[in-house]
Amino acid sequence: MMRILITGTGGLLGSNLALEAASRHTVFGVDRSCPQKTTAFTPMVADLLDPGVVERILDDTQPDWVIHCAAQANVDACEHDPENARKLNTELPRKLAHHVARGGARMLHVSTDAVFDGQKGEYGEEDPPNPLNIYAQTKLAGEYGVLETSLDAIVARINIFGWSPSGRRSLAEFFYNNLEAGNPIKGFVDVLFCPLLVNDIADLFLKMLDRGLSGLYHVVSSESISKYDFGVAIARRFGYDPDLITPVSVSQAGLKAIRSTNLTLRVDKLIHDLGVVPPGLSPGIDRFYTFYQQGYPQMIRTLCAE
Ligand SMILES: NC(=O)c1ccc[n+]([C@@H]2O[C@H](COP(=O)([O-])OP(=O)(O)OC[C@H]3O[C@@H](n4cnc5c(N)ncnc54)[C@H](OP(=O)(O)O)[C@@H]3O)[C@@H](O)[C@H]2O)c1
Repeated sequence: MMRILITGTGGLLGSNLALEAASRHTVFGVDRSCPQKTTAFTPMVADLLDPGVVERILDDTQPDWVIHCAAQANVDACEHDPENARKLNTELPRKLAHHVARGGARMLHVSTDAVFDGQKGEYGEEDPPNPLNIYAQTKLAGEYGVLETSLDAIVARINIFGWSPSGRRSLAEFFYNNLEAGNPIKGFVDVLFCPLLVNDIADLFLKMLDRGLSGLYHVVSSESISKYDFGVAIARRFGYDPDLITPVSVSQAGLKAIRSTNLTLRVDKLIHDLGVVPPGLSPGIDRFYTFYQQGYPQMIRTLCAE
């Protein structure tokens, strides 16, 4: 059993990861705004950007591992406030890596598939990144800061879906919420990605810690899909009308930040080093639906309820 500190436990990844990890380890969670009503792990409310907070929390919790999920993960918000994005996505991971390494612990830093420009697809860890927007640029600089500061850190580039405390953090929730309400929506036919259910990623992360891996890894689904087809798959799984989703190009969407189109990543390094193949898309969507049938969305929402 290890002591694991998880940051951003009010968010999509951090909340699910903390609950999953808490069944096997002693878990501490920190988040800026979510009060985290749970007995599964020890929750703390703090802003990691405040002076002295990183040092104090590491002192108080004495973790073996820190899994850093807190970020400014809203791509368009990063374009609106690049300075805040730089503080959260670049400066904070480097600072955390410095203090984690100094205390003799190890860090798994969460990054993104969006560091690539999406011109080629099928990216491996050896491919040169070329981030197109502020979010991706600040996340890539965060990766470099962590790997330079802590030689045995893990940096995991991910893409995720799942049930979140806010009920509207993931693309799968966007499709589910609108389909359930009968709202017509758009799905991008020209954006390809490899989304992995957060609960499956939690399991892979814990295996990576157990195995003592270090360095850069792509931790995504072993299959790719367009965002439009992903929406259609969610509609079919939940028994909603797929015709509510109109196929469109991302170039027609009027989004503030430029998006990369082909974000398919290879996972052969992970498979080789971990001996586990990440789940494909159907099993992930099936498990997302099973969680729904079991009342998991309501349960996860209570985590941050006032
Ligand atoms: N969501 C995706 O599809 C996706 C895809 C690729 C990579 N990622 C990466 O995965 C990681 C987790 O993403 P996510 O979707 O789970 O993000 P999220 O839902 O936005 O959660 C991030 C959490 O961190 C908290 N936080 C932010 N700044 C903080 C601070 N200074 N101190 C303490 N807590 C702070 C946020 O609180 P507030 O609500 O107050 O800001 C939020 O609860 C990020 O590194 C992201 O870049 C996500």
